Amino acid sequence: MGNRLAGKTAIVTGGAGGIGRGIVRAFTKQGANVLFVDINEEAGKALAEEVGDQARFISLDISQQENAAKIVAAAVEAFGRLDVLVNNAHASRQAPFVETTQEHMDLSMNTGFYATFWLMQAAYPQLKANEGAVINFASGSGLRGMPTQTSYAAAKEAIRGISRVAANEWAVDNINVNIISPLAATEGVQKYIEANPETGAQMLANVPLHRYGDPEKDIAPVAVFLASEDGNYLTGQTIMADGGSIMMR
Ligand SMILES: NC(=O)c1ccc[n+]([C@@H]2O[C@H](COP(=O)([O-])OP(=O)(O)OC[C@H]3O[C@@H](n4cnc5c(N)ncnc54)[C@H](O)[C@@H]3O)[C@@H](O)[C@H]2O)c1
Repeated sequence: MGNRLAGKTAIVTGGAGGIGRGIVRAFTKQGANVLFVDINEEAGKALAEEVGDQARFISLDISQQENAAKIVAAAVEAFGRLDVLVNNAHASRQAPFVETTQEHMDLSMNTGFYATFWLMQAAYPQLKANEGAVINFASGSGLRGMPTQTSYAAAKEAIRGISRVAANEWAVDNINVNIISPLAATEGVQKYIEANPETGAQMLANVPLHRYGDPEKDIAPVAVFLASEDGNYLTGQTIMADGGSIMMR
């Protein structure tokens, strides 16, 4: 419990599971109100019940452009303002480069890149009014160009590209736009490791701190920092919350 985000309202996409759920929990423990959106209704309702009055859940598909305005309006209606936008949700499928289909590209670009872009546009007036913050998500798979990650890497690096543009354009409004590149043992990652034990062992061997991050204890605190006044002098940055896997220079 703390008050580092007291008085602030945040939107978290993909908040019903994985890192998003860790962020919903950490933000509300630090005093924020959070509107979170997810397509997993059951998990969303369970988390909303767990958190109580400081959280509202809406079940919407962020890959539909018209939902961006609805999500922002829901946050403002529930809590009267919007300070922080966390674009966390991202769905994708893996395939070798030449077997990557338009469907793969659409899924990754629509849930990852376009949802981020549309929500940033929709949230801008509120973020400007409140000198707010945007937290977007990148991936080591994009930075490294991991095999089979064509659609995912494309969307992730596009997100970093527009984040830097917005960081420059919106600096005049005191809006901070930063990116977290995480590594965390979410249900999805755990499933992947179980199905691909060799790749899993290789992945862990590349983590200097030699463990996967915990969504709430290791990744969410970085988001709390970026959302709080403590992060006011950072913008346009990619923060590697990955146990040292990639050391950016
Ligand atoms: N977990 C990791 O190690 C890792 C590594 C690198 C990057 N990332 C990035 O971090 C972020 C969170 O990752 P995660 O592992 O927690 O993901 P996850 O897959 O565990 O959770 C994503 C959440 O988004 C929701 N979602 C999916 N499609 C949606 C849609 N169309 N509309 C609304 N909600 C939707 C899912 O239901 C789920 O609750 C993602 O951007 C991911 O690419 C994660």
